[in-house]
Amino acid sequence: MCGIIGYWNQEKDACPIIIESLKKLEYRGYDSFGFAIVLNNKLSVERKTGKVSSTEYQNFPGVIGIGHTRWATHGKITENNAHPHRDCFMKIAVVHNGIIENYQEIKNQLSKKGHNFLSETDTEVIPHLIEENIRNGLDFKEAVMDVCPLLQGRNSFIALSSDQEMIAFRNGSPLILGVKKNNKIPEIFIASDIQGFLDETRDVIYLDDNQIAIIKENLEFYDINTKKRIEKRLIRLDIDLKEAEKGSYPHFMLKEIMEQKKALRRAINQDDKNLMHLAREINEAKGIFFIGCGTAAKVCHIAEYIFSKIANKHVNFVQASEFENYNHFLIPETLVIAISQSGETADVLESLEIAKKRKSKIISITNTKQSSLDKISDYTFFINAGIEKAVASTKATTSQLIVVLLLAYACAGRLEEGKRILIDLIGKVNDMLNPRYELHIKKLAEKIYQEENIFIIGRGINYPLSLESAIKIMEVSYIHAQGFAGGELKHGPIALIKKDSPVIVLMSNDESKKEIISNAIEVKSRGAYVIGVSPENNPIFDYWIKTPNVEAETSPIVNLIPIQLLAYYLGILKGCDVDYPRSLAKSVTVK
Ligand code: F6R
Repeated sequence: MCGIIGYWNQEKDACPIIIESLKKLEYRGYDSFGFAIVLNNKLSVERKTGKVSSTEYQNFPGVIGIGHTRWATHGKITENNAHPHRDCFMKIAVVHNGIIENYQEIKNQLSKKGHNFLSETDTEVIPHLIEENIRNGLDFKEAVMDVCPLLQGRNSFIALSSDQEMIAFRNGSPLILGVKKNNKIPEIFIASDIQGFLDETRDVIYLDDNQIAIIKENLEFYDINTKKRIEKRLIRLDIDLKEAEKGSYPHFMLKEIMEQKKALRRAINQDDKNLMHLAREINEAKGIFFIGCGTAAKVCHIAEYIFSKIANKHVNFVQASEFENYNHFLIPETLVIAISQSGETADVLESLEIAKKRKSKIISITNTKQSSLDKISDYTFFINAGIEKAVASTKATTSQLIVVLLLAYACAGRLEEGKRILIDLIGKVNDMLNPRYELHIKKLAEKIYQEENIFIIGRGINYPLSLESAIKIMEVSYIHAQGFAGGELKHGPIALIKKDSPVIVLMSNDESKKEIISNAIEVKSRGAYVIGVSPENNPIFDYWIKTPNVEAETSPIVNLIPIQLLAYYLGILKGCDVDYPRSLAKSVTVK
């Protein structure tokens, strides 16, 4: 949540560079933005509500600055609450990502000392704490280093002084430095994501928790706990820039749906030895938990069914935000498998910190190398889906499913066969994602986009998929959508079904076919408009979306793709900002 950027050089104007970075980081939060530029010992600050890509702002001269694109946590969406925040003398500006859990306490203490607060945010305590330390005789570096340990929760920030010194601190939320050396004096970027500077450089330094980077004449790193200087390694990233662009597609979401053809192939390309080794660990573990949030949690839920079907193994699925109710079960022999596209989701990371303390083993499935999740895990599977920019996850979801399936096949001693099944499935996905198919789904969207509610039902493995389908439709089109287990409908929710209520029936070629058709008949009897998503047609369907005929355990991949397209077209027809749905952010780094 929130995108932060710092830029330091000695000749180029910082403002346009910071603005470009903020546009790239916008997917992390986009309700307001702001920046601070330093020139001649004076900080100039601009703050605006709205998205940086569609709002007017003023430019300031100066070669050093910081910027922020906000996802509001503490305080309404106003210019006053937008970052950067400053101290009483307007000499220190701070951009921040995270939540300072003890900010109220700090704010009360500082107010008693006469500090004047202008916003409702937690962030504003940071510049005032730094100011207080400077008043007490510390220099800027010492003042910032003293503040870092006081902030409870997951917090990363960049502080800029009017003396042209910039300090970045990481604890919990990512901060990455980009170094561009075209001449002797480098340009330095600090961002919450490499996308903030990928156009400029791929030479990066990953800041770890409780480390700070200081940029003045040189670039220096310190460990906050020891207060000692440390050395950090420069890494050259191998990333295709085109991945971060829309190309000829109107939206990232559509591009990423279409990219599934290639992404799934990359996901399947895992190291067999590691798969077999970890499959053994899964088979020997005492208790296995799959944890994740949102869509990734739904993949975890589907994993329960996949492991049951393929490997005859019971695994537990828990939403990471609820994991604290289960973590007393963790012992060293327990295995926690975390799924997260970003690798930065706060609830997942906090759960894993507990697992680590209890010495349980951690395996992760993520899209992001060097993410906090990667760092905390004993072993990481990278899905290699490529950059996923649209807030609604599509290609990462199906790629995560591929890795879960590979693990389940490996546990069952059927890895080679499983890979053949998946390669065959990917071929079918290729055939499926064609313009005619897209048009067929678009036509359905045209029929139902004015509805207030969409119901999705599924049995067996299609039940958790119905929940994921509902997330996709809701977040992109703002139509209320809800997924149900087919058998549960008549225990309450069927009361909502009336004439023309759209009910999507997810069906696979498995033993639950007859029963889900009975459930479809039940809703049809109450006037529902029944949409079948299945390999076979059925007279009960008013509209049929054909899916490839695949093994039931792999069917969530092919059943989900048409729903992703439907969500996309519903969003377009409703005039929604499909890549940046309201109130959402791609990377949820706060609890
Ligand atoms: C919905 C969506 C979110 C994420 C969730 C977890 O389309 O993308 O529900 O799945 O915020 O994010 P990651 O996977 O980064 O942990």
